[in-house]
Amino acid sequence: MKFAPLALVVACGAIAATPTFNQDIAPILYENCANCHRLGEVAPFSLLSYSDAAKRASQIAAVTAKRYMPPWKAEAGYGHFEDERRLSDAQIAMIGEWARNGAAEGDPARKPAPPQFTSGWQSGKPDAVFTVPASFSIPADGRDAFQCFVVPLKFSADKYVKTVEFHPGNTKVVHHALFFLDGSGQARQLDAATPEPGYPCFGGPQIAPEGALGGWAPGATTRPLPTGIVQTVNRGSDLVIQIHYHPSGKPEADQSSIGLTFGDPPTKGLSGMIVGTRKIDLAAGAQQTITDWARVPEDVDLIGITPHAHLLCKEMKVTAKFPDGRIEPLIWIRDWDFNWQGSYRYAEPVRLPKGTRIEMSYVYDNSAGNPHNPSNPPKRVTFGEQTTDEMALLFMQVVLPRADDVPRFRKQFFLGRLEQILLEGGEPAGVTRRAREILRVAGPRFDANHDGKLGPEERTALLRFLAERIKCGVDR
Ligand code: HEC
Repeated sequence: MKFAPLALVVACGAIAATPTFNQDIAPILYENCANCHRLGEVAPFSLLSYSDAAKRASQIAAVTAKRYMPPWKAEAGYGHFEDERRLSDAQIAMIGEWARNGAAEGDPARKPAPPQFTSGWQSGKPDAVFTVPASFSIPADGRDAFQCFVVPLKFSADKYVKTVEFHPGNTKVVHHALFFLDGSGQARQLDAATPEPGYPCFGGPQIAPEGALGGWAPGATTRPLPTGIVQTVNRGSDLVIQIHYHPSGKPEADQSSIGLTFGDPPTKGLSGMIVGTRKIDLAAGAQQTITDWARVPEDVDLIGITPHAHLLCKEMKVTAKFPDGRIEPLIWIRDWDFNWQGSYRYAEPVRLPKGTRIEMSYVYDNSAGNPHNPSNPPKRVTFGEQTTDEMALLFMQVVLPRADDVPRFRKQFFLGRLEQILLEGGEPAGVTRRAREILRVAGPRFDANHDGKLGPEERTALLRFLAERIKCGVDR
């Protein structure tokens, strides 16, 4: 008797808490889904109105419970990133309860105002806008297309890029885009060699880019680089935009644009760091883990990370082992999906002290049981740019205290990779062909005692010789 009133209170509480669209669900969908699930955006249907959401209530509950939606590949607890698209356990439970209880609409007075999206530039009017030179046709069906477009920037002086905002010309087919810089004219030659606008390029721009300007994926938020940091674009360089097209079922055309905002010359240094290997040999039918590591030659702050592989990769894990023995997970993608590859920017820079060891471990499945396997029956797969080739790459963006530090840092990192070749015989990505060739030819000449191998002193002498001659390029 004494406890009855209390039980009643609890029961009433539970009834009152049955979620409704207007009060509980709309805020979650507006915040986490609407940037893609609205008219003219990448997702196949809108989720803005009650009727849109209610008729798919159980499907929404299912895809959120599996964390298939919102699409976000980085596992919680392995790096903290900007703009993480991840629902909380409580939000997922709330959606499930709403769907199970008949997807009620609730009190209209409780419905929040729908989110406002600008159709213009998210980050304000850019200083310069460049449009791909000609419209590209995408057939109604068939395989996805990967096309690289060359945009002559025609800068007469070096420019310091602060913000990059991509505008897909046709959101029905543009799946994602990556931006590279070419100062060599190679991309123009590739473009001229094919009749259509741009040239086909699945695995990358097929050139040794002198830099990169990030990428775009549906639902992406445009943000400027942190204070003091800019991406330098050398005068005369071309922009190469690689676009991944997904056929829509109808013939389509696309002509995308990119807006750049410029800043002051940098006070801090920004450099790329490429880990990864070309030593890939996946036997038909096999599951295999490919690993690589690299040592950080100076104290840096890690601000961004972009793991990259093709269709056979299943899982990617990257960790930092600090000189004091501590281990910090940098990213874990448990379920790699080539269609949702992204560049991840850390919410707070991760300090990597000199001597930190970056370790990557990617798992590949070249069996017939892998639904993404492009070859049926499976065939042996090696490193390359084509759909049926593989890659094991990791691009990292690091910040140095001063802009002047960058050339020295790059050289030190590069020499470290050459030393790895001497010690372990690996084939690190990011080491130019020319450097590998010099290493092969010059190596034997530094075998002072003619014992057929290079001891520590001989190695040091060879690396010193190379340090003076090698220009640090980027080459995958
Ligand atoms: C970054 C863009 C993006 C965001 C954010 C996003 N979606 Fe999606 N969603 C898509 C795309 C693209 C598809 C269709 C392709 C696919 O199924 O992967 C899709 C498909 C779906 C489907 C159909 C799945 C199926 O099996 O056919 C549901 C349901 C869905 N989304 C619900 C949601 C909900 C709920 C949210 C927010 C919690 C959300 N989505 C957030 C892009 C997005």
